[in-house]
Amino acid sequence: MPSKTPEIKIVEDITQLNREAANEFLRSAQASIVSRGRFCVALAGGSTPGGVYSLLAEDQSNPEKRLPWEKVFVFFGDERHVPPDDPESNYRMAKESLLSKIPIPQQNVFRVASELDANTAASQYEQQLLNFFRVAREEWPQFDLIMLGMGPDGHTASLFPGSPALEETHRKVVANWVEKFQSFRITFTFPVLNHAAEVMFLVSGEGKAEVLKQVLRNPAKDVYPCQKVQPEAGRLLWIVDRAAAKLL
Ligand code: 6PG
Repeated sequence: MPSKTPEIKIVEDITQLNREAANEFLRSAQASIVSRGRFCVALAGGSTPGGVYSLLAEDQSNPEKRLPWEKVFVFFGDERHVPPDDPESNYRMAKESLLSKIPIPQQNVFRVASELDANTAASQYEQQLLNFFRVAREEWPQFDLIMLGMGPDGHTASLFPGSPALEETHRKVVANWVEKFQSFRITFTFPVLNHAAEVMFLVSGEGKAEVLKQVLRNPAKDVYPCQKVQPEAGRLLWIVDRAAAKLL
Protein backbone atom coordinates (compact mmCIF):
# COMPACT_ATOMS: atom_id res chain seq x y z
CA MET A 1 0.00 0.00 0.00
CA PRO A 2 1.66 3.25 -1.08
CA SER A 3 2.32 5.32 1.98
CA LYS A 4 0.87 8.81 1.64
CA THR A 5 3.08 11.60 2.81
CA PRO A 6 1.85 12.51 6.26
CA GLU A 7 1.34 16.11 7.26
CA ILE A 8 3.66 16.97 10.14
CA LYS A 9 3.03 20.01 12.32
CA ILE A 10 5.87 20.77 14.72
CA VAL A 11 4.77 22.98 17.61
CA GLU A 12 6.82 24.54 20.39
CA ASP A 13 5.62 22.57 23.40
CA ILE A 14 2.76 20.58 24.94
CA THR A 15 0.71 23.75 25.46
CA GLN A 16 0.84 24.51 21.75
CA LEU A 17 0.22 20.84 20.94
CA ASN A 18 -2.97 20.91 23.02
CA ARG A 19 -4.14 24.09 21.27
CA GLU A 20 -3.32 22.82 17.79
CA ALA A 21 -4.98 19.46 18.42
CA ALA A 22 -8.09 21.05 19.94
CA ASN A 23 -8.35 23.38 16.95
CA GLU A 24 -8.09 20.41 14.57
CA PHE A 25 -10.77 18.54 16.54
CA LEU A 26 -13.10 21.56 16.31
CA ARG A 27 -12.38 22.06 12.61
CA SER A 28 -13.04 18.41 11.81
CA ALA A 29 -16.18 18.38 13.95
CA GLN A 30 -17.65 21.51 12.38
CA ALA A 31 -16.86 20.32 8.83
CA SER A 32 -18.33 16.85 9.46
CA ILE A 33 -21.50 18.26 11.02
CA VAL A 34 -21.99 20.67 8.12
CA SER A 35 -21.45 18.01 5.48
CA ARG A 36 -22.90 14.90 7.16
CA GLY A 37 -24.95 16.18 10.05
CA ARG A 38 -22.80 14.38 12.61
CA PHE A 39 -19.21 13.94 13.83
CA CYS A 40 -17.94 10.47 14.72
CA VAL A 41 -14.65 10.55 16.61
CA ALA A 42 -12.50 7.95 18.36
CA LEU A 43 -10.49 9.36 21.27
CA ALA A 44 -6.91 8.39 22.09
CA GLY A 45 -5.91 7.14 25.50
CA GLY A 46 -2.74 7.57 27.50
CA SER A 47 -1.52 10.79 29.08
CA THR A 48 -0.84 13.11 26.13
CA PRO A 49 -4.43 13.81 25.00
CA GLY A 50 -5.77 14.72 28.46
CA GLY A 51 -4.70 18.32 28.00
CA VAL A 52 -6.42 18.47 24.62
CA TYR A 53 -9.68 17.20 26.10
CA SER A 54 -9.50 19.71 28.97
CA LEU A 55 -8.92 22.53 26.48
CA LEU A 56 -11.88 21.37 24.39
CA ALA A 57 -14.04 21.55 27.50
CA GLU A 58 -12.79 25.08 28.26
CA ASP A 59 -13.41 26.08 24.65
CA GLN A 60 -17.11 25.38 25.10
CA SER A 61 -17.43 28.61 27.10
CA ASN A 62 -16.59 30.42 23.83
CA PRO A 63 -19.70 30.59 21.60
CA GLU A 64 -17.50 30.53 18.49
CA LYS A 65 -15.98 27.18 19.53
CA ARG A 66 -19.12 25.60 21.00
CA LEU A 67 -20.14 22.33 19.36
CA PRO A 68 -23.66 20.85 19.05
CA TRP A 69 -22.68 17.84 21.19
CA GLU A 70 -25.95 16.09 20.39
CA LYS A 71 -24.44 15.60 16.91
CA VAL A 72 -21.10 14.32 18.23
CA PHE A 73 -20.56 10.57 18.76
CA VAL A 74 -17.57 9.53 20.85
CA PHE A 75 -15.81 6.18 20.72
CA PHE A 76 -12.47 4.96 22.05
CA GLY A 77 -9.69 3.63 19.82
CA ASP A 78 -8.59 1.36 22.63
CA GLU A 79 -9.16 0.64 26.28
CA ARG A 80 -7.30 -1.04 29.06
CA HIS A 81 -8.84 -4.21 30.51
CA VAL A 82 -9.91 -2.50 33.71
CA PRO A 83 -13.24 -1.24 35.12
CA PRO A 84 -14.37 2.21 33.88
CA ASP A 85 -13.59 3.86 37.23
CA ASP A 86 -10.04 2.48 37.35
CA PRO A 87 -7.21 5.09 37.31
CA GLU A 88 -5.84 3.29 34.22
CA SER A 89 -9.11 3.60 32.29
CA ASN A 90 -9.02 5.72 29.12
CA TYR A 91 -12.76 6.25 29.51
CA ARG A 92 -12.25 7.60 33.04
CA MET A 93 -9.53 9.99 31.78
CA ALA A 94 -11.78 11.27 28.97
CA LYS A 95 -14.78 11.54 31.29
CA GLU A 96 -12.86 13.56 33.88
CA SER A 97 -11.17 15.86 31.34
CA LEU A 98 -14.01 16.35 28.84
CA LEU A 99 -17.14 14.20 28.85
CA SER A 100 -18.35 15.23 32.31
CA LYS A 101 -17.95 18.93 31.37
CA ILE A 102 -19.97 19.10 28.14
CA PRO A 103 -23.67 18.59 27.32
CA ILE A 104 -23.13 15.39 25.35
CA PRO A 105 -26.04 12.94 25.57
CA GLN A 106 -25.03 9.78 27.41
CA GLN A 107 -26.18 7.63 24.49
CA ASN A 108 -23.64 9.45 22.26
CA VAL A 109 -20.68 8.10 24.25
CA PHE A 110 -19.70 4.52 23.43
CA ARG A 111 -17.59 3.12 26.24
CA VAL A 112 -15.84 -0.23 25.95
CA ALA A 113 -17.37 -2.62 28.50
CA SER A 114 -13.87 -3.29 29.81
CA GLU A 115 -15.15 -4.69 33.09
CA LEU A 116 -16.19 -7.81 31.17
CA ASP A 117 -14.04 -10.65 29.89
CA ALA A 118 -11.70 -9.06 27.29
CA ASN A 119 -12.95 -11.09 24.33
CA THR A 120 -16.57 -10.39 25.26
CA ALA A 121 -15.82 -6.68 25.60
CA ALA A 122 -14.14 -6.63 22.18
CA SER A 123 -16.97 -8.55 20.48
CA GLN A 124 -19.61 -6.31 22.05
CA TYR A 125 -17.74 -3.15 21.02
CA GLU A 126 -17.31 -4.48 17.50
CA GLN A 127 -21.06 -5.14 17.28
CA GLN A 128 -21.74 -1.60 18.53
CA LEU A 129 -19.57 -0.26 15.70
CA LEU A 130 -21.39 -2.37 13.09
CA ASN A 131 -24.77 -1.27 14.44
CA PHE A 132 -23.92 2.41 14.76
CA PHE A 133 -22.29 2.74 11.33
CA ARG A 134 -24.85 0.35 9.80
CA VAL A 135 -22.15 -1.70 8.08
CA ALA A 136 -22.07 -5.42 7.36
CA ARG A 137 -19.37 -7.55 8.96
CA GLU A 138 -17.25 -7.47 5.77
CA GLU A 139 -17.49 -3.66 5.49
CA TRP A 140 -15.61 -0.97 7.44
CA PRO A 141 -16.92 1.85 9.63
CA GLN A 142 -15.56 5.25 8.63
CA PHE A 143 -14.75 7.60 11.48
CA ASP A 144 -14.49 11.31 10.70
CA LEU A 145 -11.52 11.55 13.04
CA ILE A 146 -9.44 9.04 14.96
CA MET A 147 -7.01 10.48 17.52
CA LEU A 148 -3.94 8.40 18.30
CA GLY A 149 -0.85 8.55 20.45
CA MET A 150 2.50 6.82 19.96
CA GLY A 151 4.31 4.90 22.64
CA PRO A 152 8.14 4.95 22.95
CA ASP A 153 8.10 1.47 21.37
CA GLY A 154 6.16 2.74 18.38
CA HIS A 155 2.81 1.24 19.41
CA THR A 156 -0.44 3.04 18.79
CA ALA A 157 -3.89 2.40 20.20
CA SER A 158 -3.19 -0.99 21.79
CA LEU A 159 -1.39 -2.34 18.76
CA PHE A 160 1.93 -3.23 20.37
CA PRO A 161 5.04 -4.60 18.65
CA GLY A 162 4.89 -8.38 18.42
CA SER A 163 1.27 -8.60 19.55
CA PRO A 164 -1.29 -10.80 17.75
CA ALA A 165 -3.59 -7.90 16.74
CA LEU A 166 -0.97 -6.50 14.35
CA GLU A 167 -1.95 -9.12 11.78
CA GLU A 168 -5.73 -8.78 12.12
CA THR A 169 -7.37 -7.80 8.82
CA HIS A 170 -11.01 -8.86 9.29
CA ARG A 171 -12.11 -7.94 12.81
CA LYS A 172 -12.84 -4.32 13.77
CA VAL A 173 -12.10 -4.66 17.46
CA VAL A 174 -10.06 -7.34 19.22
CA ALA A 175 -8.80 -8.27 22.65
CA ASN A 176 -5.04 -8.08 22.27
CA TRP A 177 -2.70 -9.82 24.75
CA VAL A 178 0.16 -7.44 25.60
CA GLU A 179 3.07 -9.50 26.92
CA LYS A 180 4.93 -6.66 28.59
CA PHE A 181 1.89 -5.74 30.64
CA GLN A 182 0.78 -9.35 31.09
CA SER A 183 -2.72 -8.16 30.35
CA PHE A 184 -5.29 -7.79 27.61
CA ARG A 185 -6.14 -4.52 25.93
CA ILE A 186 -9.20 -3.93 23.74
CA THR A 187 -8.26 -2.16 20.51
CA PHE A 188 -9.34 -1.05 17.07
CA THR A 189 -7.51 -2.93 14.33
CA PHE A 190 -5.44 -1.33 11.58
CA PRO A 191 -8.18 -1.51 8.92
CA VAL A 192 -10.49 0.60 11.12
CA LEU A 193 -7.73 3.16 11.61
CA ASN A 194 -6.95 3.13 7.88
CA HIS A 195 -10.56 3.67 6.85
CA ALA A 196 -10.85 6.91 8.82
CA ALA A 197 -11.40 10.19 6.99
CA GLU A 198 -8.67 11.62 9.19
CA VAL A 199 -6.13 10.23 11.65
CA MET A 200 -4.39 12.66 14.02
CA PHE A 201 -1.33 11.51 15.98
CA LEU A 202 -0.29 13.52 19.03
CA VAL A 203 3.32 13.04 20.15
CA SER A 204 5.15 14.93 22.86
CA GLY A 205 8.50 14.64 24.61
CA GLU A 206 12.14 13.86 23.93
CA GLY A 207 11.65 10.21 24.92
CA LYS A 208 9.84 9.59 21.63
CA ALA A 209 12.28 11.44 19.35
CA GLU A 210 14.23 8.38 18.16
CA VAL A 211 11.16 6.27 17.36
CA LEU A 212 9.40 9.23 15.77
CA LYS A 213 12.35 9.70 13.44
CA GLN A 214 12.25 6.00 12.51
CA VAL A 215 8.49 6.07 11.98
CA LEU A 216 8.42 9.22 9.88
CA ARG A 217 11.70 8.88 8.03
CA ASN A 218 11.47 5.14 7.20
CA PRO A 219 7.69 4.68 6.77
CA ALA A 220 8.10 1.80 4.33
CA LYS A 221 9.97 -0.30 6.91
CA ASP A 222 6.84 -1.41 8.83
CA VAL A 223 9.03 -2.03 11.85
CA TYR A 224 6.84 -0.05 14.23
CA PRO A 225 3.05 -0.45 14.50
CA CYS A 226 2.58 3.29 13.89
CA GLN A 227 4.04 2.81 10.42
CA LYS A 228 1.05 0.64 9.46
CA VAL A 229 -1.32 3.55 10.01
CA GLN A 230 -1.74 4.66 6.41
CA PRO A 231 -5.29 5.94 5.81
CA GLU A 232 -6.42 4.58 2.44
CA ALA A 233 -8.18 7.79 1.42
CA GLY A 234 -7.99 9.85 4.57
CA ARG A 235 -5.75 12.54 5.94
CA LEU A 236 -2.79 11.60 8.14
CA LEU A 237 -1.73 14.41 10.46
CA TRP A 238 1.05 14.33 13.06
CA ILE A 239 1.12 17.09 15.66
CA VAL A 240 4.42 16.83 17.49
CA ASP A 241 6.25 19.12 19.87
CA ARG A 242 9.81 20.31 19.34
CA ALA A 243 11.25 17.87 21.88
CA ALA A 244 9.74 14.87 20.10
CA ALA A 245 10.72 16.26 16.70
CA LYS A 246 14.34 17.03 17.55
CA LEU A 247 15.74 14.23 15.35
CA LEU A 248 13.52 14.85 12.34
C1 6PG B 1 -3.23 3.91 25.65
C2 6PG B 1 -3.12 4.60 24.32
C3 6PG B 1 -1.74 4.43 23.81
C4 6PG B 1 -1.09 5.78 23.97
C5 6PG B 1 0.40 5.68 23.82
C6 6PG B 1 1.04 7.03 24.15
O1 6PG B 1 -4.27 3.29 25.93
O2 6PG B 1 -2.27 4.08 26.41
O3 6PG B 1 -4.05 4.29 23.46
O4 6PG B 1 -1.64 4.03 22.48
O5 6PG B 1 -1.63 6.68 23.00
O6 6PG B 1 0.87 4.71 24.75
O7 6PG B 1 0.76 7.29 25.49
P1 6PG B 1 1.19 8.69 26.17
O8 6PG B 1 0.34 9.72 25.53
O9 6PG B 1 0.87 8.48 27.64
O10 6PG B 1 2.65 8.86 25.90
